[in-house]
Amino acid sequence: MKIQDHDLVYVKPNLAIEPLVDNWYAWSHLISPATAALNIKERHLKIMNSYIQNPQIHAAAVRNPKMLGGPFIDYEGKRVEEITALRDNTMEQCADSLELCEAISQLNHLLDKEAKGYSLTPLYSKVPEVLKGFVELFYDLNNHASYRFFEFLFYRSKYYKESLQSFNLFLVNNDDSRSFVLSTPKLVNPNILRLNIPFKDNRIDELFELTEKPRAFGAVKQSLNIPPEKEELFADFFTQEAPAKYKPYLGAGVLTRYFGHACILVETKDTCILVDPVISYGYESDISRYTFADLPETIDYVFFTHNHQDHILFETLLRIRRKIKHIVVPKSNGGGLQDPSLKLMFQKIGFDNIIELGDMDRLELKDCTITGLPFLGEHADLDIRSKLCHMVEFRNGYKIIFAADSCNVEPRIYEKIHEEVGDVNILFLGMECDGAPLSWLYGPLMPNSLDRDKDQTRRLAGCNFEQSRALIDIFNPSDVFIYAMGMEPWLKFISSIKYTEESRPIIESNKVLEYCKARGKEAERLFGEKIIEYDR
Ligand SMILES: [Fe+2]
Repeated sequence: MKIQDHDLVYVKPNLAIEPLVDNWYAWSHLISPATAALNIKERHLKIMNSYIQNPQIHAAAVRNPKMLGGPFIDYEGKRVEEITALRDNTMEQCADSLELCEAISQLNHLLDKEAKGYSLTPLYSKVPEVLKGFVELFYDLNNHASYRFFEFLFYRSKYYKESLQSFNLFLVNNDDSRSFVLSTPKLVNPNILRLNIPFKDNRIDELFELTEKPRAFGAVKQSLNIPPEKEELFADFFTQEAPAKYKPYLGAGVLTRYFGHACILVETKDTCILVDPVISYGYESDISRYTFADLPETIDYVFFTHNHQDHILFETLLRIRRKIKHIVVPKSNGGGLQDPSLKLMFQKIGFDNIIELGDMDRLELKDCTITGLPFLGEHADLDIRSKLCHMVEFRNGYKIIFAADSCNVEPRIYEKIHEEVGDVNILFLGMECDGAPLSWLYGPLMPNSLDRDKDQTRRLAGCNFEQSRALIDIFNPSDVFIYAMGMEPWLKFISSIKYTEESRPIIESNKVLEYCKARGKEAERLFGEKIIEYDR
């Protein structure tokens, strides 16, 4: 039945909102102006130019499972004219960003050639004009010169362009319908509605309020200025069927639910915490899972462990932004290109009440305390501080650690932490111990590319068995849950991981499960969904 303007409608549970920057799938490094500029130049333009030159190489690479996640455009070697137009459009629309890249490159060159241990003051006059006023120069104690950006100034300059932000709205019908999003720009498609509005626009919140509260279709259509030729497509995103009402947890204990990957919801009758939100849309499937429909009306705190695409996923966050009261992020090192501020980023894209935590900083909530524990490694040995393992401690001493991808490269650090915080009840630990090499994520930021043999050793890898075992021996949890493995099929669009029984992360995590069971501990590698209730 055709939806009429006066009909009250809800958004369908499988309506996806895909945020884009300059037509590419948006992730955090495409928001902060300097990292965005370098990704546009060194990733997007390079991939598009390569496709224009030889689309069939890309088509073949996309078909090869070993190349999953590689820099290849997934349009079966077709649509070359559109990619060419997109490339030309990027060169024009992002001219300021490209100018910024050139200036960063000149600054690196300047320091390399002229900063030899003498005062840096005379070099300020030689800083490229574009970067004057944005940068402070310094030496480390070994007299290696570097610089820090005043990142907030970039956000106030022409280098932050909200006009590059847009959205795709479309329906997701199964786990296989989306291909890997980070290597292929988004061309217009008949099933997809493109909306040219910035991420901070509160019409996004109004749209997703229709998850629970219906509104007249005509008013919804009008608020988003849907053109007549797109009305039929737009109408398909809505239903007149009311969703089942969410029942909040009213027990006296702690209800912990796994939503897939590293996403965990912790509820008590007073507090609701969501960690690393990455949530499946609602559609028919053989694999049972929690979806957006299983979230409470209000989320008191959303915690992020670190700044990787599979832990900060805008498409989940924008769908729930209206529900979030506070956001807790790890504090960055302040000005390092490789470590943009999550606080600034979330502020710019329309989130409020952002709290930064550093190592061992504590946050008192109504019935628990959050402590930011050090998160080690997993960032290719770069100086990146925006990473924390969160420990939630309830008033009776019940403790959960969300260690995410922290790689226990130096157990002596965690031994010292244990002296302060003691044993814990539950450890959630990621064990994606292969990890992509440095260049996969941070390559566009490097002034000089790293030799391949070095690059292969510097990985975004989580704990292997030995590192996990050391962590378990130190914190002595009674329950160990291996998670954040990118295993859920609905994550394929963002995680380029496909495991077999021979994959190292599976072999290593199997060893952890055996190790724990031999010691009377509960242990499980999570997949799909899991519910853990603890009565206080
Ligand atoms: Fe990670």
